Amino acid sequence: MKEIVLETKIKVYPEAELPEVFAGLAQSAREAADRAYAPYSCFHVGAAVLLENGEIITGNNQENAAYPSGLCAERVALFYAGAQYPEIAVKALAIAAETEGKRVKLITPCGACRQVLLETEARSKQSIQILLCGADEAYLIDSASALLPLCFDGKNLPS
Ligand code: THU
Repeated sequence: MKEIVLETKIKVYPEAELPEVFAGLAQSAREAADRAYAPYSCFHVGAAVLLENGEIITGNNQENAAYPSGLCAERVALFYAGAQYPEIAVKALAIAAETEGKRVKLITPCGACRQVLLETEARSKQSIQILLCGADEAYLIDSASALLPLCFDGKNLPS
């Protein structure tokens, strides 16, 4: 028997210490959360995607009375970026959330969004930095693959 230990490096920034580019991205994610359509969960999530050309694409959760028909903020933003700018790599993605008018302590992406982040990384062969914006600090992770160890990806499929 052998044991495998998986490690994830996370940089934790007090909000006031966030480098300027991430502070801006966090702000865009928060503003996007304000525009979320979340009448069922009342959980408002915003995502901001920074493209390699400097453009910022935002998305927010879009819910539906038929619950599974809705989509998370991250995928709304990533799919829009992929549809509009298929040749431009995603450099970073920030997410933020609020409920009952208050910032959520720490928002972390769901499994399906992690899987889409992973595919986006694979598509451009570049790591995506992920910023999880909390109430008063933010977690910075160097790549989507760090958030999804032992993942299923295209390498598992026959070529
Ligand atoms: N949600 C997101 O938009 N992103 C996440 O990372 C987690 C969950 C949304 C989906 C649903 O509209 C609401 O939050 C409650 O799950």
